[in-house]
Amino acid sequence: MIKLEPGSVIGILGGGQLGRMLAMAAAQLGYHTHIYCPDEKNPAEQVTNRLSRSSYTDEVALIRFAKVVDVVTYEFENIPVETVELLNQHVPTFPSAQVLQVSQDRLHEKNFLNKIGVETAPYAAVMTEGEAVEALKIITYPAVLKTRRFGYDGKGQAIVKSPEELSAAWAMLNSSDIIIEGFIPFDMEISVLAARGQDGEIKCFDPAENIHKNHILDLSIAPARIAPHLRAQAVGIACHIVAELEYVGVLAVEFFVSSSDPVFRVNEIAPRVHNSGHWSIEACPTSQFEQHIRAICGLPLGDTSLYGRAEMKNLIGDDILDVALYLKDPDANFHHYGKTHARPGRKMGHVTRILPTVGTNKKSI
Ligand SMILES: Nc1ncnc2c1ncn2[C@@H]1O[C@H](COP(=O)(O)OP(=O)(O)O)[C@@H](O)[C@H]1O
Ligand SMILES: [Mg+2]
Repeated sequence: MIKLEPGSVIGILGGGQLGRMLAMAAAQLGYHTHIYCPDEKNPAEQVTNRLSRSSYTDEVALIRFAKVVDVVTYEFENIPVETVELLNQHVPTFPSAQVLQVSQDRLHEKNFLNKIGVETAPYAAVMTEGEAVEALKIITYPAVLKTRRFGYDGKGQAIVKSPEELSAAWAMLNSSDIIIEGFIPFDMEISVLAARGQDGEIKCFDPAENIHKNHILDLSIAPARIAPHLRAQAVGIACHIVAELEYVGVLAVEFFVSSSDPVFRVNEIAPRVHNSGHWSIEACPTSQFEQHIRAICGLPLGDTSLYGRAEMKNLIGDDILDVALYLKDPDANFHHYGKTHARPGRKMGHVTRILPTVGTNKKSI
C-alpha cells in the first residue's frame, strides 16, 4: 500500500472536466497534479500545476511523466491498456490496467459481470450481419446493437425493433465488433458510485436516478426515487463489483431498474468518476472526486452521506449562456468547465441544487 503525503504529485491521464474536478479535489487535500493529455486547451490545464501535452502512445513522454509523479490515475476509459501497463512499470497506477481492459470492451464487461453473478441484458457478440440474424433468433426483438468499444453518450449504437431494420442498423454502425443486447424496458436508470481503497475498504454514494435527453445525461437526482431496500440492494451489487475487481478508486455502475424480476440489471461500468455523481461536490461531506483521490493516495475513505436531496442538471451546449440566471439563483451551485466553444451536445458545465428534505417527492418505484 502506498500512502502519499501532502505535496506529492498525482498524475492524471486525460484533461476533460473530470480531470479538472479531480485536480481541484487533489489541491484541497494538499496534493499537486500533473495532467497528461494530447488535447490543446483542455479544461483541466487551467487548474493543474503541471501539464504534459503528448499522445497516449508516446513512450518517451509517458516514461518522463511517470518519473515526475508519485501515482497515476485516469479520467476516461479509452486510454490504451498498454499505456497504463507501461506507466505501472514505473509508478503505482490506479485503477489497474486489468480493470481498464474489462471495462473498455462491452463484451469483456458483460462476461465479467455475469461470471460474478451480476445480471445484465442478454447479449451476444457478432462479427457479421449473418451472425446477427442468428443471434437475434435467441435474443429476439427489440434489441440494441452496440460497437464493443469507444461508445459514449449513445454513440455507436442502434435500436432494432424488427428484422427489417437490421440491415440499415448494421450498415450505420459499420463495424465487425458488435455486441447485441436485448432491449430492457426499464422503469428507471440509476447509477451507484462506489469507492474502494488500497486496503479493501469500500464506501458507496447513494444511488442516483438518471434522466437522459438525446442520449446525454440531463438530470441526476440523489437519492434515486426507489424504495430504501432497493437502494441498499443496488449499493450491494456495486460493492460486490469493486470487491471482485480488487478495484482502487471510484467506479460508476449504471443500472436498469424494472418493477418485475430481475429488478436490477447492470448496463455498464465506468472505471472513473462519473457525470452522474457530480452532485456529491455539494451534497456530501466527501465528493466523488475527493474520494477517488483519497483511495489512490492511500488515505481513509470519507463520509458519503447526503445532506439532503440533490439534483444535478447538466449544461449542454448553449445552456451555458444562461449563466446570469444560475448566478442569481441562491440555490444553484454553478460549475463552468472552462470550455470556450459551446458546440451542440458538448458538456459545458453543471448546476447542483440541494433540497433540505429527503424522499418527499412523488415518483417512486
Ligand atoms: N439494452 C438496452 N435496453 C434498453 N435501453 C438501453 C440498452 N442499452 C442502452 N440503452 C439506453 O441507451 C443509453 C446509452 O447506452 P449505454 O450502453 O449506457 O452507452 P453509453 O456508453 O453511450 O452511455 C442507456 O443509458 C439507455 O438509456
Ligand atoms: Mg452509459
